[in-house]
Amino acid sequence: MINRQDEVIRNFDNLVDLEFAARLTKQEGWHSETLLELQSFFEHDPEGCFLYEVNGKPVGMCIATAYQQSGFIGELIVAKQYRGLGIAHKLMQAAIQYLQQKQFHAIFLDGVQKAIPLYEELGFRSISRSLRFFGQIPAEEFPDILPMNAEDLQEVINLDRLTFSDNRSFFLSKRWQNYPDLAFVRKQNQQIAGYLFGRIGLGGWVTVGPWVNLIDQSADLTLLSHFQAKIGNQPFSIGILENRKSIIPQIVMAGLQPRTDPPTRMMLGIGNNLGDNDHCFAIGSPAKG
Ligand SMILES: CC(C)(COP(=O)(O)OP(=O)(O)OC[C@H]1O[C@@H](n2cnc3c(N)ncnc32)[C@H](O)[C@@H]1OP(=O)(O)O)[C@@H](O)C(=O)NCCC(=O)NCCS
Repeated sequence: MINRQDEVIRNFDNLVDLEFAARLTKQEGWHSETLLELQSFFEHDPEGCFLYEVNGKPVGMCIATAYQQSGFIGELIVAKQYRGLGIAHKLMQAAIQYLQQKQFHAIFLDGVQKAIPLYEELGFRSISRSLRFFGQIPAEEFPDILPMNAEDLQEVINLDRLTFSDNRSFFLSKRWQNYPDLAFVRKQNQQIAGYLFGRIGLGGWVTVGPWVNLIDQSADLTLLSHFQAKIGNQPFSIGILENRKSIIPQIVMAGLQPRTDPPTRMMLGIGNNLGDNDHCFAIGSPAKG
């Protein structure tokens, strides 16, 4: 029996809170949600980072990302011994309220199957599967794919607003700063024809995303094959919305394995799903779309 005399929801305040958050993601085996990744949420908007405390002790968290017209909620975790007490529900209510104050048209999340009833109770509805794949594909380097430089990044940011349908420039810049060796652009006639970002998580876990192909809507693994060549002989994970029907069979044929229990993209509000565009092959992150 837990004595719950004093319960508060407050914003992250300092490194100690971030370290608590990183311990929770590590315990859950969320390899891509490192301290560095959590720090970028905090730098972006400390008011969107929520911590649940019982008698002065942090026991849960959740992060709301406010883009310009829509929001995304992720990183919802409650410490094991405090589950089933309604804490996640309260954290979600705080995150939703925070984003709704901004008058966004919609709030999104990627929910694991077990948590779907919790999200449905809060008004979210399922809109698609947010698939996950893991493995390796044949590696090949291409001369028209180059490391992303600062000038490219600015152009990528401008293009990304159109394909993602909101402004995630802060996170793209952070990813480029944190992992410059894993960010690539494909150029054709000196124009950016596609871009791909990667990152390294706990234990060297490599994740791809966002991955955008601007030229046409056909399945084209060029950027991904180049990325594989650059990271060498190691597997990576990638998240792809199920509507990307052209790319999914291609990556499976190339050797990636689908996860059997993928999350579901859910939405509260109206409008188009973030990144649900034939050019956006891979999502940026399960915690921010
Ligand atoms: C999901 C999670 C945050 C729920 O926290 P919680 O404080 O126990 O949730 P609440 O008490 O507010 O609500 C419980 C609801 O969570 C859901 N739930 C129950 N067990 C769950 C589990 N093992 N995993 C996920 N969701 C679960 C159910 O819908 C439950 O509703 P019910 O009590 O009516 O059956 C918690 O189980 C957790 O940290 N799981 C691991 C991380 C995770 O999966 N996060 C969600 C990612 S989308």
